[in-house]
Amino acid sequence: MTALADVAVIGGTGFYTFLEDPTDHVVDTPYGAPSAPVSVGTVAGRRVAFLPRHGRHHELPPHAINYRANLWALRSLGVRQVLAPCAVGGLSHDVAPGDVVVPDQLVDRTHRRVGSFVETGAVHLPFADPYCPGVSAAVAAAAPDIRVGGTMVVIEGPRFSTRAESQHYAAQGWSLINMTGSPEAALAREMRQCYAAIALVTDMDAGAEHGAGVDQREIFELFRANLERLTGLLTTAIGHLPDPTGCGCEAWADGLELTYRIP
Ligand code: ADE
Repeated sequence: MTALADVAVIGGTGFYTFLEDPTDHVVDTPYGAPSAPVSVGTVAGRRVAFLPRHGRHHELPPHAINYRANLWALRSLGVRQVLAPCAVGGLSHDVAPGDVVVPDQLVDRTHRRVGSFVETGAVHLPFADPYCPGVSAAVAAAAPDIRVGGTMVVIEGPRFSTRAESQHYAAQGWSLINMTGSPEAALAREMRQCYAAIALVTDMDAGAEHGAGVDQREIFELFRANLERLTGLLTTAIGHLPDPTGCGCEAWADGLELTYRIP
């Protein structure tokens, strides 16, 4: 089948549309329905799929997102490279609200999500470096002020961290905190997709500031204020994406007896 799209953007909090002239595709998956119909359109000469992670009306909290259905649906349309913008809190003082960061590491602190397509068989994919170097580099090159590197810890949510939890994460040297980066990245790897996170710092997490802690309104406001910038940055990055065969992400599953189907 010809791919309907070979690139995808999974929109995060505050990010519900991306494409002009999209066509909607209602995709059924063995794992149930994705967060929304997938829209497909053209950006920078590439066929791009867009899926709002939290649903079109932000109706899905992080722990209720059907991550497997989302990644499976995108792959079934042909997607090989995934750009994943997300709102994050800052844990260290070398990041500040408004910064865009391309993290290079991930710590999974979620505990009640289905995190794999593997349901039978001893199949263990390498995940030492969770993000695609090629897609990450294309994003990093999209604007001079993008920060590169850092560890994003993903918590279960939906509540924000206590001050002590936040201070603990910061003491580990982790710089960013979020609620959706896992299992999304691992599932993309299992779907043989290149995946990069694009983290917009929307707030300083409880342990990094003296105030009352994080407030959801500040996150939405900051995201709204940066929407145009983020859209421009994604468009530039998409125009500079490398060939998906050059980075080796697809090959992580080579030689493994995969017990699940890749569409
Ligand atoms: N998403 C945006 N800000 C966050 C924070 N402080 N903690 C967890 N997830 C977030």
